[in-house]
Amino acid sequence: MYLSRFLSIHALWVTVSSVMQPYPLVWGHYDVCKTQIYTEEGKVWDYMACQPESTDMTKYLKVKLDPPDITCGDPPESFCAMGNPYMCNNECDASTPELAHPPELMFDFEGRHPSTFWQSATWKEYPKPLQVNITLSWSKTIELTDNIVITFESGRPDQMILEKSLDYGRTWQPYQYYATDCLHAFHMDPKSVKDLSQHTVLEIICTEEYSTGYSTNSKIIHFEIKDRFAFFAGPRLRNMASLYGQLDTTKKLRDFFTVTDLRIRLLRPAVGEIFVDELHLARYFYAISDIKVRGRCKCNLHATMCVYDNSKLTCECEHNTTGPDCGKCKKNYQGRPWSPGSYLPIPKGTANTFVPALDSLSNCECFGHSNRCSYIDLLNTVICVSCKHNTRGQHCELCRLGYFRNASAQLDDENVCIECYCNPLGSIHDRCNGSGFCECKTGTTGPKCDECLPGNSWYYGCQPNVCDNELLHCQNGGTCHNNVRCVCPDAYTGILCEKLRCEEAGSCGSDSGQGAPPRGSPALLLLTVLLGTASPLVF
Ligand SMILES: *[C@@H]1O[C@H](CO)[C@@H](O)[C@H](O)[C@H]1NC(C)=O
Ligand SMILES: *[C@@H]1O[C@H](CO)[C@@H](O)[C@H](O)[C@H]1NC(C)=O
Ligand SMILES: *[C@@H]1O[C@H](CO)[C@@H](O)[C@H](O)[C@H]1NC(C)=O
Ligand SMILES: *[C@@H]1O[C@H](CO)[C@@H](O)[C@H](O)[C@H]1NC(C)=O
Repeated sequence: MYLSRFLSIHALWVTVSSVMQPYPLVWGHYDVCKTQIYTEEGKVWDYMACQPESTDMTKYLKVKLDPPDITCGDPPESFCAMGNPYMCNNECDASTPELAHPPELMFDFEGRHPSTFWQSATWKEYPKPLQVNITLSWSKTIELTDNIVITFESGRPDQMILEKSLDYGRTWQPYQYYATDCLHAFHMDPKSVKDLSQHTVLEIICTEEYSTGYSTNSKIIHFEIKDRFAFFAGPRLRNMASLYGQLDTTKKLRDFFTVTDLRIRLLRPAVGEIFVDELHLARYFYAISDIKVRGRCKCNLHATMCVYDNSKLTCECEHNTTGPDCGKCKKNYQGRPWSPGSYLPIPKGTANTFVPALDSLSNCECFGHSNRCSYIDLLNTVICVSCKHNTRGQHCELCRLGYFRNASAQLDDENVCIECYCNPLGSIHDRCNGSGFCECKTGTTGPKCDECLPGNSWYYGCQPNVCDNELLHCQNGGTCHNNVRCVCPDAYTGILCEKLRCEEAGSCGSDSGQGAPPRGSPALLLLTVLLGTASPLVF
């Protein structure tokens, strides 16, 4: 679920590259900061942002609960279905594997055990609060790359705080507040991440979006990393270069997405109603079936590998750096001061070690429509920036919307994309297909949608004929104008001049004969059918 956005972006690129001319073979996955590639000049080294791949971080954490004995089942107890206080035949028993709900079940593989979950004891000591801290520790700084997603098996909590630590659990800061009523619970106005902007992206908010109880079907709580990235990289994270530019220069922003520990503070379970049902306290408890945390080891862009050894994550530092996060120069390599590497590709960014050969720039293949590339770590690849000549795409190999491919031009030709020129009145939008055909509105035809189908006439776009000289005659001396309307003599009105103007105004003399215009003539009936509306004469 949390991957879907990533996958859709990925799928998009796959589509792009399969639709268009495949780009040179040198394109591959750059998962090392230095890789050998083949270009016209032969084998060259290519340098990339130097960081380990983003991965499922729940495999490497330690989990701790507070209070330690809060997991259900010791002693065994029965609990009720959240939505039904009379369905109390569920049992939690820590000594029976099938009935136990230990914390590990928050991190097991979905699919293999679809409905396994950790569960707390029930709220039998109400009104004493039922509060649980779930602390996830990595003993290593990690950078989050995707939303944190928590799936509650039995109602999302009424109140919860997500906290983070950057110093291995010594100090904690709130990351996000969650409540059914933010003002009441935390004295905060409710907000959603979408209310933030580039300038307020670091604001800590309280959201009510994820806190409705068991009455809704959704079980999920997000901490929105991607939406925050999008303030810099655009709604579909297309412009990661812009995000990386910011990350390179703004420590606060880098730190915001960096953690050593996370803590889920469950403050009040889902109640679902205004009052707690004191007769059935076995309905209230916490149950979590899944926690997703995706990220990468923080290695200050001086390592591409992070190893898990002796239940500890360590960067495999390069560039003669050392330390758990490659945060220091190695002994005897302190000729220049330590600095982090860069997210941006050469020539803008640098691994802060040595100057690369210019050859590596030939990677940056944009068919002459751009001379700048950016590294996208999500896809582990490089894309062209600011494609010119109405091109777009990873290698400027596609035409912008509203343009189509010039079949007689090479990919590197400035004339490679031709404007669609769809008639704005006749077409549904300004895009066309690969041979320049626009999508036409009803009654309209032609490659550019500027011609009318038979039975239609052009009048601010194609309109169905109202009158003509064969079937649909204007009456009472009216004349047909452009097939789209009858121009009536002063005394008459109506689409076919079939009505006396005075009749419409209700001011005809009683002797003038209400039936003056011909009623129910075949032409009028036809008109009624054509227009799909009932003419007043039919009533
Ligand atoms: C949870 O952690 C917070 C600090 O982050 C602490 O103040 C609180 O007492 C803890 N609650 C429990 C139930 O341990
Ligand atoms: C690290 O230092 C060694 C010895 O001075 C040098 O040969 C090597 O190129 C350096 N490595 C990097 C990546 O700078
Ligand atoms: C298509 O490309 C060819 C070759 O560059 C050029 O001569 C021609 O004018 C282009 N066609 C259009 C409609 O731009
Ligand atoms: C574009 O649309 C036209 C008309 O529907 C069709 O004849 C033509 O084959 C299409 N071209 C492509 C490349 O799909």
